[in-house]
Amino acid sequence: MAIFRHDVLIIGSGAAGLTVALKLPVDTDVAVLSKGKLNHASTWYAQGGVAAVLDKTDSLESHVKDTHIAGAGLCHDDAVRKTVENGPDAIRWLIDLGVDFTKLDEGDGGEFGYHLTREGGHSHRRIIHAADATGIAISSALIENVHKRKNVTLYEDRIAVDLIREDADNQKAADNSQQGRCIGAYVHNIETDTTDVFLAKFVVLAAGGASKAYLYTTNPDVATGDGIAIAWRAGCRVANMEFMQFHPTCLYHPKAKASLVTEAIRGEGGRLLLPNGERFMHRFDERAELAPRDVVARAIDYEMKRLGADCLYLDISHRPADFIIHHFPTVYAKCLQLGIDITRDPMPIVPAAHYTCGGVITDLNGQTDVPGLYAIGETASTGLHGANRMASNSLLECFVFGEAASQHMTSLMHSVAMPDKAQEWDESQVTEAEEDVVIAHNWDELRRFMWDYVGIVRTVKRLERAWHRADMLKKEIAEYYSNYKISKDLLELRNLVVISELIIRSAKARKESRGLHHVIDYPELADNPTDTILVPGEIDD
Ligand code: FUM
Repeated sequence: MAIFRHDVLIIGSGAAGLTVALKLPVDTDVAVLSKGKLNHASTWYAQGGVAAVLDKTDSLESHVKDTHIAGAGLCHDDAVRKTVENGPDAIRWLIDLGVDFTKLDEGDGGEFGYHLTREGGHSHRRIIHAADATGIAISSALIENVHKRKNVTLYEDRIAVDLIREDADNQKAADNSQQGRCIGAYVHNIETDTTDVFLAKFVVLAAGGASKAYLYTTNPDVATGDGIAIAWRAGCRVANMEFMQFHPTCLYHPKAKASLVTEAIRGEGGRLLLPNGERFMHRFDERAELAPRDVVARAIDYEMKRLGADCLYLDISHRPADFIIHHFPTVYAKCLQLGIDITRDPMPIVPAAHYTCGGVITDLNGQTDVPGLYAIGETASTGLHGANRMASNSLLECFVFGEAASQHMTSLMHSVAMPDKAQEWDESQVTEAEEDVVIAHNWDELRRFMWDYVGIVRTVKRLERAWHRADMLKKEIAEYYSNYKISKDLLELRNLVVISELIIRSAKARKESRGLHHVIDYPELADNPTDTILVPGEIDD
């Protein structure tokens, strides 16, 4: 076992983690852990873009208002304003880093001269993008710049097991209530199959979301809610986990892994169709295809169930072919590979799990309940997203809160001592697993019952069923974890079962339908909505 020491340990290498790394001063010694390679994070797969007020006909107030409307009464105004007001500066920073956003081809695109697209819930064109591969453009620029920073050490193929808190052995411990500052993490090296200690003055959880808790998702395999689960085990409160966002349009094809079809296609006039070619969204919302995601995903789910259809369709073929190929090269190429020419034909789509709106509760500097521990991006619940994240606000949140956390840590850097030591990782009580079928089976079972029972439309009865299954899996996995050596699959499963419990628990607690949480037994909005806040120790965790 090795011990690594850095001023700041960042767990996660997407937009949130790399922003924190780049915003910290060059004399700060920074470690970035990536579960796979640096470009395996969810950011890489983002298509649509970044929402920011960049046009003189738009206004900050309008972006604030749209965010609140999409968030269905649960957005925190301070977090919304902070994000929106810092939007234009965040975009300038990205342009300075070298992000090659799509330029304007005609008309007036405002001060920046970039093409701005529209997405659901936005009352203006305000999404700056790099065609439909914005994530690749942003990730590439962040990765290139972080490689130039001598103060940043990148550790790939590392998965954090648990956080270490001062004055206590956190290893496999259940009760964190008496523990102090976060001083690091136990980190499993996937390549060498060893577990090391990373010590740091500050630890940042930027490990993305938890959409892999569902059978169908637009997310890459890494999205197993690691940051949220390990923060929960370390004693952090989490909020609003019932608000899992399902993206309305995920490409449906028996031969292809689920992949995102960007909302910008609807922003540029794409029409949702029933199998008989009829439009239907106007029956559900006057904003039709540009209603917020919760509304569109539910409408698609309703129509699929009503018609017994495997999928519905999205059609952009009425726009000129060169426009489609120029603006949506990723979706065009992907569909063409599957024999669908979107310049002529509609594409088959279904909704799929896409974004975790809830997460680890933080303040406006990204600080969690545990001293020394920050959470940024999809791992965090800053109050920005409320009951439904508005499209393209999430990358913006990573840049704005990533900068705020860096500044906050920097202001405290000299007053915090480098941690001295921690208990070693102890494998003396565990043996090599005899068979992995338990892990594979439980992965499948969890994702299947979450999809069937805790999906787009919920009922009290289905939530109860899911609760019992999650409880059973939790016990099995805990037993497995205490007896056998850890592996990436086991650690991810252990995190996913925590996530599923947090989601189900939160969903059971909300006795109304709001935003992304729709429960048939409680179809109305409650009068005085509040966040669902779960506190470790207060439930059977
Ligand atoms: O539809 C999209 O391109 C996704 C955007 C987002 O999730 O913000």
